[in-house]
Amino acid sequence: MTTLDSSFVTNSSWKPDLFKGKVVFVTGGAGTICRVQVEAMVLLGADAAIIGRNVEKTEKAAKEIEALRPGAKVLGLGNVDVRDVHSLVKASKETVDKLGRIDYVIAGAAGNFLSDFNHLSANAFKSVISIDLLGSYNTVKATFEELRKNKGAILFVSATLHYYGVPFQLHVGAAKAGVDALSNALAVELGPLGIRSNCIAPGMIDGTEGFARLTPPGAEPLEKKVPLQRLGSTKDIAEATVYLFSPAADYVTGTIQVVDGGCWHIGGLMGSLYPSAVLTQGLDTPKL
Ligand code: COA
Repeated sequence: MTTLDSSFVTNSSWKPDLFKGKVVFVTGGAGTICRVQVEAMVLLGADAAIIGRNVEKTEKAAKEIEALRPGAKVLGLGNVDVRDVHSLVKASKETVDKLGRIDYVIAGAAGNFLSDFNHLSANAFKSVISIDLLGSYNTVKATFEELRKNKGAILFVSATLHYYGVPFQLHVGAAKAGVDALSNALAVELGPLGIRSNCIAPGMIDGTEGFARLTPPGAEPLEKKVPLQRLGSTKDIAEATVYLFSPAADYVTGTIQVVDGGCWHIGGLMGSLYPSAVLTQGLDTPKL
């Protein structure tokens, strides 16, 4: 089921057909956050290719998003692992063959789970770095010729975890710090070619796989700790995405757009869990 519908065009701040004739290529596009980013772009006129590992999930999401706008074309390209640049090159070629071009790229595929350092194996650390950081690099590498030809724009999906030290998330924090650095350097290096590169850093987004998996069961409601007094929505991320790809952001590159209701300024939200939770975990035999 889609999150957005045609009211996103009629009631929103954006004009219909904003992205008419454009194509967006999205890794992780069947996942909760990235899927709604795609819905918004498609509702506003873009065609899209969504890339994922799971064939059935990716193709089903593509069909549902395609139905949002008459005439829209949305490809669902499953069986693609962002850790393998060649499989992304194949997906990029198929997108150009079927949709004609790529203008915008969202590097959104991510892997995450909660683990303290002591129980996080070297292989587990490498898995997350490979999906989030190497996968983001591979995504741009595989679409670069199209971005260069069309003076396109890149959007990385980052996080706020690395702005401070978040226990149980050191693997993701390390990966996303790398993603920010990658985006900033690409903004400088590719700016003269007419390509923009930005990051979006979602905070606590309601209804996402990440939020469900990363919130300990029985934890007290977190929204009261957020300056704007609510959890974020996938639509909030979609709105920021539309802005960053739109002509309104033509002079915006090398930025990290935080969409978190002001939450990261408060610092970590571990409350009474710190330091007892980390102390308990740290005493076992280290997992290699
Ligand atoms: N805690 C600690 N280690 C974990 C773990 C957990 N919850 N889940 C997986 N790992 C470890 C595994 O034990 C393995 O390490 P080992 O070989 O030393 O035992 C390592 O991570 C790789 O696991 P594997 O299942 O082979 O990885 P994968 O490459 O197929 O999957 C993950 C990648 C681990 C990131 C997996 O969680 C995933 O595919 N996630 C995608 C979806 C997702 O996370 N979405 C949330 C977005 S916020």
